[in-house]
Amino acid sequence: MTVALIILGAIVAALLAVTIYDVTQKRHAVLRNFPIVGHLRYILESFGPELRQYIVTANDAERPFSRDQRSWVYASAKVENNLSAFGTDNDLESTPGHILIRHSAWVVQEPAHAIPAPGDQPQAGVGPDYVLPPACVIGRLHGRPGAFRPSSLVNVSALSYGALGESALEALNLGARRAGCMQNTGEGGLATAHTHGADIVFQIGTGYFGCRDADGNFSMDRLLETISRAPVRMIEIKLSQGAKPGHGGILPAAKVTPDVARHRGVQPWVDSITPARHSAFHDVPSMIAFIERIAEQTGLPVGIKSAVGQMDFWDDLARAMAADRSAGPDFVTIDGGEGGTGAAPFTFADHVSLPFRTGFVQVRDVFAAHSMDRDVPFIGSARLGFPAQALVALALGCDMVNVGREAMLAIGCIQAQRCHTGKCPTGVATTNPRLTRGLVPSDKGPRLGNYIVTMRHELLELARTVGVVHPALVPADVIELVDDRAGSRPLTEVYGTDRLVGRPPERDVREIVAIMSGMPIS
Ligand SMILES: Cc1cc2nc3c(=O)[nH]c(=O)nc-3n(C[C@H](O)[C@H](O)[C@H](O)COP(=O)(O)O)c2cc1C
Ligand code: SF4
Repeated sequence: MTVALIILGAIVAALLAVTIYDVTQKRHAVLRNFPIVGHLRYILESFGPELRQYIVTANDAERPFSRDQRSWVYASAKVENNLSAFGTDNDLESTPGHILIRHSAWVVQEPAHAIPAPGDQPQAGVGPDYVLPPACVIGRLHGRPGAFRPSSLVNVSALSYGALGESALEALNLGARRAGCMQNTGEGGLATAHTHGADIVFQIGTGYFGCRDADGNFSMDRLLETISRAPVRMIEIKLSQGAKPGHGGILPAAKVTPDVARHRGVQPWVDSITPARHSAFHDVPSMIAFIERIAEQTGLPVGIKSAVGQMDFWDDLARAMAADRSAGPDFVTIDGGEGGTGAAPFTFADHVSLPFRTGFVQVRDVFAAHSMDRDVPFIGSARLGFPAQALVALALGCDMVNVGREAMLAIGCIQAQRCHTGKCPTGVATTNPRLTRGLVPSDKGPRLGNYIVTMRHELLELARTVGVVHPALVPADVIELVDDRAGSRPLTEVYGTDRLVGRPPERDVREIVAIMSGMPIS
């Protein structure tokens, strides 16, 4: 009896010690939130590969992100070994859509590091930060006072406060600051978590959260007050997002904490409704007038974000911008139907709006028909947070890419796909303090930074393999997609695209080549 009691006591003491360790350590959100049982995840993960040889899914089978893709993000974020061994496990000849890149016999070498003088900007294209600006200058087309060249062509996509908790947003902000990239606020307003030093893209959604009056209408005064609280570099008006275009949304009452409510300008613990469309404009001319009003008052570049549906909107927009080249969006973000969201009706996520590549190419072609495609910076999003996928987007004509869920993976998301329940086990997509406690921004922030830097590094390596100094210069015919007949076809053929379509205008090419060679821009 006594022996049994001693053993029981020892077990309880051991479990207590593990519990105390789990809830106080800062590296693993799942263990902080689920002491003891959280270890099961790590145990299963450790012999997962052996288990999967016999049952369950293949390395490339899961969606939205395959195990290989997630493992690459996790390893890059933790600066662990992100290499693969023993050769590819993809079937390179019969996986339709698989990306193949034709390398050059004359690859470009990474330039030697210059020794920076005190106060010098970091040299573009070299480690450790692999600073990689886009070829475009945002806002130059319309001469905005705040026109600028972002220092990173990979930036953090719109992820709203409310959908994500304060700790996750703070981690993203710290990581974005570390990587020198921008963080988009999403449509939930500007939270305190957005004010830890990273450059910010302030998003205006249909709910005008953070820039609305008491009746829910757009308020310029509120906008000016809000953006004065952070280093906002540009403003993005969201027309729609790929996962639920034209649907609006509800942030359930349980997620509308007093802080979320304060930053949105709504009542706490009441469903926060996002209308399906804007009330501040109703057609292309009134949208352009709205953009101009905001650009004039703020001095900042102002762009739009949209998924691609009916093409008359894009035709009207490109025609209007061609007719008056002094007005209109300073950039256009195209989100693919395969994009993510905190919560969307199943049918909208699966069936409404075109996938990124198809949609983007159609929009770019409409702009080309009005001779506007080279002037307007395009940003792409929807599963582009991997080097090869991002390179395809650039070769098709994008200037920059945004990463949303990949950024969430970097700070600990495990693709449990419970973001809509408020019960995210890793504390990323929840405002419940019991769960957000698990996510320690000072630990997870650097992981986002590491992931963004790795993305830039590997994009640069791909460009150099192709024989050019910057990914924007990769011609579309060196990238091929595997077809269903044991062959592959270049992007130029698949998308009916010019071979140099991704090539920016001549002035931008001159400037980016100078920047990448460490020369002054002439
Ligand atoms: C939790 C969550 C919240 C999001 N919130 C917004 C938002 O407020 N505004 C927006 O334009 N897009 C929002 N998005 C969409 C992303 O910005 C992005 O366009 C989409 O997920 C595609 O990029 P990805 O594949 O890199 O995630 C959200 C996505 C997720 C997963
Ligand atoms: S609920 Fe799952 S998918 Fe959503 S953020 Fe959390 S871990 Fe990621």
